[in-house]
Amino acid sequence: MQNIANYDFAGKKAIVRVDFNVPIVDGKITDDTRIRGAVPTLKLILEKGGSLIIMSHMGKPKGKKKPELSLGQIVDAVSAAIGVPVKFAPDCADASEAAAALKPGEALLLENLRYYPEEEGKPVGIDKEDPAYEEAKKAMKAAQKEFAKKLASYADCYVMDAFGTAHRKHASTAVIADYFAPENKMLGLLMEKEVAAVDAVLNNIQRPFVAVMGGSKVSSKIGIIENLLGKVDKLILCGGMTYTFAKAHGGEIGTSICELDKLDVALGVEELAKKNGVELVLSTDCVATDGLDFSTMSLKPGARVEVVPANAIPEGLEGVDAGPESRKAFAAALKGAKTILWNGPAGVFECEDFTAGSRAIGEAIAEATAEGAFSLIGGGDSVSCVNKFGLADKVSYISTGGGALLEAIEGKVLPGIAAIKG
Ligand code: 3PG
Repeated sequence: MQNIANYDFAGKKAIVRVDFNVPIVDGKITDDTRIRGAVPTLKLILEKGGSLIIMSHMGKPKGKKKPELSLGQIVDAVSAAIGVPVKFAPDCADASEAAAALKPGEALLLENLRYYPEEEGKPVGIDKEDPAYEEAKKAMKAAQKEFAKKLASYADCYVMDAFGTAHRKHASTAVIADYFAPENKMLGLLMEKEVAAVDAVLNNIQRPFVAVMGGSKVSSKIGIIENLLGKVDKLILCGGMTYTFAKAHGGEIGTSICELDKLDVALGVEELAKKNGVELVLSTDCVATDGLDFSTMSLKPGARVEVVPANAIPEGLEGVDAGPESRKAFAAALKGAKTILWNGPAGVFECEDFTAGSRAIGEAIAEATAEGAFSLIGGGDSVSCVNKFGLADKVSYISTGGGALLEAIEGKVLPGIAAIKG
């Protein structure tokens, strides 16, 4: 497999797929982690005398040219990040001239790839039940290849550095690789780091290995939980999914979030943990309220807030954070860990009153990391937590991947990696 460190970029044009799907509020980037993540690759190519054609998606415009999802908004931020003025191609499928004009050391950013439905390769405006759907799908696949070929025609080599989108088999993340010889396509430095971090928690495990899975739904995490139960020594399950487990044992959960049709899934997780000798750590108590306003993420005046057992929540109250006993148990389970994975918060941390559970986990992870553990934090919410609690530089690695990280940890082969590795 070709390697970015060895490749001779001098005088060559490199088309680089990055994930610049960054949050923008009122025209301002509110989290530039993903831009910073791609900088080492982009700078290395420029330093080696190459020129850059940078491409990304933003949001889900579904084949429509939505101005609020234009990558034109981030040109200045990308220029500042890589230290050269970045030119902008307002039509990603009509950038041959702009690409051809690039001199070594110059960079061009293409407009949002998903303005074209060919990027995702799914037929638009036609229902799956429609008899013409299969034909439309075939036609779209052919159009996707043409689109990928067009993008490939801009450059001499292809660099895949969009870990956050590597679980998508799209024109720019996978299909494009078919149009480059093996010696002219490679993973970028961010991809290499992300792959190594995943490897550390899947294959190169130092024990004890403790994983923390939070979030509201056990169903959306079941694939990863099952895979982890074959690898970890301890699994902390927290956040909203706590109440599905409590309910599965006949607990009273008030108005807490619960997947009533997944009670058997929760019991199955407990059985598998037992079978595999994994210590499962679930919340025993929680902070519950009747007055969390989710639209403002604040407590309504006069709201009740109580610490109650997680399986005996009074009627009308909703569990929104881990209680003090659970927080102690989480910290104890993380103490002495040598490999740690954290995905998903322990409570509604967006509300200042309910950060304690997630904070306790973050702090315990930081402590274990200081004592030599390798800690991988992934998924938008857990990353927001470590940033919010000022712990970002106290953990080993923060992934830029959301869905991509989860699929990688489920043990799936990511199409964006397979396209390069063959
Ligand atoms: C993400 O934000 O997880 C990536 O950019 C992928 O976006 P997608 O889920 O719209 O494909």
